[in-house]
Amino acid sequence: MITGKYPNLRLRRSRKEMWSRRLIQENDLSPNDFILPIFLIDGKNKKQVIKSMPGVYRYSIDRLSQIVDKAIKKGIPMVALFPKTPNILKDELGSESLNENNLVCKAILEIKKKYKNKIGIMCDVALDPYTSHGHDGLIKSSKILNDETIEVLINQSLLQAEMGCDVLAPSDMMDGRIGKIRKALDRNKYQDVQILSYAAKYASSFYGPFRDAVGSNSLLKGDKKTYQMDFRNSNEALREIALDIKEGADMVMVKPGMPYLDIIKSIKDKFKLPVLAYQVSGEYSLIETAISKKLINKDAVYESLVAFKRAGANAIVSYYADRLDQII
Ligand code: PBG
Repeated sequence: MITGKYPNLRLRRSRKEMWSRRLIQENDLSPNDFILPIFLIDGKNKKQVIKSMPGVYRYSIDRLSQIVDKAIKKGIPMVALFPKTPNILKDELGSESLNENNLVCKAILEIKKKYKNKIGIMCDVALDPYTSHGHDGLIKSSKILNDETIEVLINQSLLQAEMGCDVLAPSDMMDGRIGKIRKALDRNKYQDVQILSYAAKYASSFYGPFRDAVGSNSLLKGDKKTYQMDFRNSNEALREIALDIKEGADMVMVKPGMPYLDIIKSIKDKFKLPVLAYQVSGEYSLIETAISKKLINKDAVYESLVAFKRAGANAIVSYYADRLDQII
């Protein structure tokens, strides 16, 4: 409803002073709104530059506390772990995903040992960091197998839960996996482990730098269009979300973020459950590169993040999460 009329109504009156703008502001950011992704790498004493993601690094397990300390100090509620698996450990079946000594398992144990429950741990459930073909699932005659993949994802979920992961985040887009993972968790006494479903995950070009970061880019054969969503669709996102809620998802993710604000909004309006947004690697690197080339100024970061809150996101997975104080 629009009320009032110029000249007795002047909206610029309330925008005139900073204190007044602060008073009427509808959205803002706090550390509570963020999840920090952390890339893991094999070896010792490594903090490795990721070329396609300026300002983001891969950490070896022995240097993990450097970044986790920072996240805790800044009040970030949760970190998300992503491994760069050495190529020699990758195979067709993604076997390394089920190795209890893999990078993610080691990182979970390390963080839980050092910080107990001071910070939540979220782990992807998908095979792409572990497969020699870079796909999220198993392949037969160049088709991604749905039900066979789920069996592996169940075991990956149980392993990560056993290590102490708090939030499992299936990002694979197989049909029916949320229900099956939930059932397996409950059967194995992991009723308290949460599921954050990457329910509306689009086949997107904005994931490029991430695939670089986990080393799957050069391996990936073809694209992920037979399982990730078509970016021309929005009703389909609502169907995906509805199914995952029925199957037991505690929270849902929309991904990528900024080009999909309409999806966040319509999910939030319809389902009233915690909706998270992922400001993905390509969005991050675009903004960072434009700032470093002085095409835009660094306030663009704040603007890009508030947009998610305006759309209705409860929290944002962002590579900026550890540098919020330089942004807000
Ligand atoms: C793996 C996964 C991807 C991202 C998060 N989990 C990439 C993909 O699906 O290809 C992308 C995150 C980013 O781009 O920042 N399933």
